[in-house]
Amino acid sequence: MALWGGRFEAGVAEVTQEFGASLPVDKHLYKQDIAGSKAHAKMLAAQGIISAEDEQAIAKGLTGIEQDIDAGNFTFDINDEDIHMSIESELTRRIGEAGKRLHTGRSRNDQVATDTRLGVKALAKELMEANLELRHVLVDAAKKYDKVILPGYTHMQHAQPVLLSHHLLAYSWMFARDFTRLKAAFDAADNCPLGAAALAGTSYPLDRQMTAAELGFAGVIPNSLDAVSDRDFLLDLHYAGSVMAMHLSRLSEEIVLWSSSEFGFITLSDSYSTGSSIMPQKKNPDFAELIRGKSGRVYGNLVQLLVTMKGLPLAYNKDLQEDKEGALDTAHTLMQCLSVMAGMISTWTVNEDAMARECGVGHLAATDVADYLAKRGLPFREAHAVVGHLVLMCEKRGCNLEDLPFEVFQEASPLFEHDITEALDIPSIVAARTTEGGTAPAAVAVQLQRAEAQLVVD
Ligand code: ARG
Repeated sequence: MALWGGRFEAGVAEVTQEFGASLPVDKHLYKQDIAGSKAHAKMLAAQGIISAEDEQAIAKGLTGIEQDIDAGNFTFDINDEDIHMSIESELTRRIGEAGKRLHTGRSRNDQVATDTRLGVKALAKELMEANLELRHVLVDAAKKYDKVILPGYTHMQHAQPVLLSHHLLAYSWMFARDFTRLKAAFDAADNCPLGAAALAGTSYPLDRQMTAAELGFAGVIPNSLDAVSDRDFLLDLHYAGSVMAMHLSRLSEEIVLWSSSEFGFITLSDSYSTGSSIMPQKKNPDFAELIRGKSGRVYGNLVQLLVTMKGLPLAYNKDLQEDKEGALDTAHTLMQCLSVMAGMISTWTVNEDAMARECGVGHLAATDVADYLAKRGLPFREAHAVVGHLVLMCEKRGCNLEDLPFEVFQEASPLFEHDITEALDIPSIVAARTTEGGTAPAAVAVQLQRAEAQLVVD
């Protein structure tokens, strides 16, 4: 009989037993469930609600169960419905009477909310660690390639040259903001629902502050109805995860493009590539593609929970049981993506020559040539037109701006002097962008310091 079976005459149908059970998912929260129960029992004893002997028996019994689950020596039974009843039934089987006192002043509603919050805190922490590792890899790569220049793009067209370090650091800043969002999800989960009981609190003299402190929560949720029905903290994790998945996906897209023969900017290591079953020559960036693809799954989990939540009246509704699978999936997916991405970047080969070659295509110097004229007094709009005309001439001749003879520049504007060559030189163009946050080596060095300092703070 189920732990709640007292008022029933018949058992549930087999199909509903399986349908209603959350055990296959929430068994992953056994450590949280056991920690929550231990803290609750300790508080019950401290408040004189159960005896010290009962509390000791409960704690010992729960430790034994945890060890058995750790060791894979615990058989989960779907008839127990969820992890809460699974552990409680086993506890009573092991220690008898005292086990039946554990659930005093508690409901599965505050219990599951507690377990889930503890779970989210742990997952957010793990993701934050993995996020830091990837940022370390990006920052190290930024240091390593501090002299490599590639074309910067807008609209996927060559725009202006940038340092590879600058490009990689752009991603490290995105991931730094993801870290902040993960931390916010951690903080949102960091309040304890225990004591809310089913929905309205309880008549037992519980010390909610004590249970919260025992479990390492920063505080107690002030409203019992909210405590058992709020899942914002999960949504925060999903959102933080979704934005991070999007950043991972954008980076993956660049890796897919850059490793193509059209770009040839990078070569992925064999250990982060796959072959084709039919085309012997293929070396595919499967893992970058897979990370890009996984973003869909992570967004899906966010949307699933938003939709599940949207019509729920207060307080607990069984719909809420649909809250955990997606979050566990998102966290697991992102842990893999972060570590695969870190491995892929730390083992790739950067083909500096291919990047340099592409810097010679697409008139990357055009803005600087216009700036050259503007700095000599020509209104920028006019300078833009002059250089636009020069670019058109290049297109017709099939050459680059830097290939035009000096006379052609002079014909276009008498303001051009021989020092125009500097405005056409790719490294000089990069070095000139010294604005804070710009791509000049000097500015990137400052940025790198900031990124490293942020790694230390996080
Ligand atoms: N397995 C349930 C869940 O994950 C636990 C809470 C069940 N509470 C209830 N009143 N049926 O949400």
